[in-house]
Amino acid sequence: MCYSNKDRLIVRGGKKLKGEIKVQTSKNATLPIMSASLLADGKVYLKDCPDIIDVENMVKILAKLGADIKQIGDDYLIDSSKIMDACLDYELCKTMRSSIFLLGSILARFKSICLTFPGGCKIGKRPIDIHIQAFRRLNVKVTELDDFVFFNATKARAGKIRLKLPSVGATENIVQFASTLKGKTIIYNSAREPEVVDLCNFLNKMGAKIYGAGTKKITIIGVEKLKGVEYKPITDRIVLGTLLVATAICGGIIRLIDGNYDQNKKLIEILSLMGCQINIKNDIITLSRDIPLRSIPKIRTGYYPQFPTDLQSIILVLSCVAKGRTKIDEKIFENRFLIVNELKKMGAKIDLIDNHTAIVNGVDNLKASNLKAFDLRGGASLVLAGLVAQGETIIDNVHYIDRGYCHIEKMLKSLGADIERI
Ligand code: EPZ
Repeated sequence: MCYSNKDRLIVRGGKKLKGEIKVQTSKNATLPIMSASLLADGKVYLKDCPDIIDVENMVKILAKLGADIKQIGDDYLIDSSKIMDACLDYELCKTMRSSIFLLGSILARFKSICLTFPGGCKIGKRPIDIHIQAFRRLNVKVTELDDFVFFNATKARAGKIRLKLPSVGATENIVQFASTLKGKTIIYNSAREPEVVDLCNFLNKMGAKIYGAGTKKITIIGVEKLKGVEYKPITDRIVLGTLLVATAICGGIIRLIDGNYDQNKKLIEILSLMGCQINIKNDIITLSRDIPLRSIPKIRTGYYPQFPTDLQSIILVLSCVAKGRTKIDEKIFENRFLIVNELKKMGAKIDLIDNHTAIVNGVDNLKASNLKAFDLRGGASLVLAGLVAQGETIIDNVHYIDRGYCHIEKMLKSLGADIERI
């Protein structure tokens, strides 16, 4: 670890990228899998976990709950057999959204939990109404009082749930909860993200009976017990996409190991249309770009397998230096254009029609500036803008980026970027 709240990044633009990287393990797969490890009647050994702040915080929360956790390099040995009750550390839970994923496993094990509303973040208010609705469908008693929510699952029973929209977190909570709930639970309109599939694969390896992961209908047959297992969560498709776009924006060539084409299909289609050469061989994705970038008219985010909202800021930056006009529609979150003003400082031409739509007119180049990160993926996008800007860009609030990227400066430096943390 060794991240600090005061860290800043200096990026000197103009270098092409060249090299090969093994992409880190997925933050959004590791977090719900760490939560689900509470369901194991035995030790869970998670391999190659990403060295990021959100994982560190999740480990702290599990330890505060009473789990015995040993870190061996990037692996974690988690033994939650000694946990007696679920008293979540509110301060820690407030610091990250991902603690909401603990709801399903804690309710399954301890039958009751009191949560503070996880609180929104910069990209949106992040409500949990779909989670609450789903648990009520399983006869969980949910009481909302001020900014507390009480869940009581003593009378829970299996049932059918139709999600108002394919929420990743709500799907992951119900899958965890229903894995040891007697009877058959069906989730209609479930999220199809690869991280949801990875959680289901982890639970099935523990002995759960979950069918249909990755489709819009997931069936869970509750079992008595789940056993401890060894598991390596999937590669981070958002970090992989960030590295592909970094190479597209700088020019050069990159080889990504453990790349999964299917999980990045939409992005790869867009980058090919914008002038990149992309080659897929087994689990190696090679991208090069040596002709001028051309914009594509419209990019719209959506639920998987549509273009991921987590790459919207990243592709927005690429569009800023592509020749032509791009309309970007952010259909998932209500406030995910926080970097627009920062990019305008660098000379980008972006018009915000409303908080879901931005029009970008490409410029020949961006100029270095002093920037502030306001959220995880927006922060990573500002680094990419610095890589291509003329001069020395300073980025503050780097701790947002450290929530999801393992030492982003080391990753990019290994590819030839001129970047350092101060
Ligand atoms: C997960 O968040 C990811 N986080 C997010 O990644 C990702 O952007 C998001 O899924 C969408 O893919 C983790 O996996 C830890 P949702 P989650 O529930 O589960 C609305 C990152 O950068 N909604 O699928 O919170 C919600 O407001 C992060 O790594 C409700 O209205 O997302 C949003 O508009 C950012 N009520 C939409 O659904 C609810 O009860 C999708 O949210 C829940 C969600």
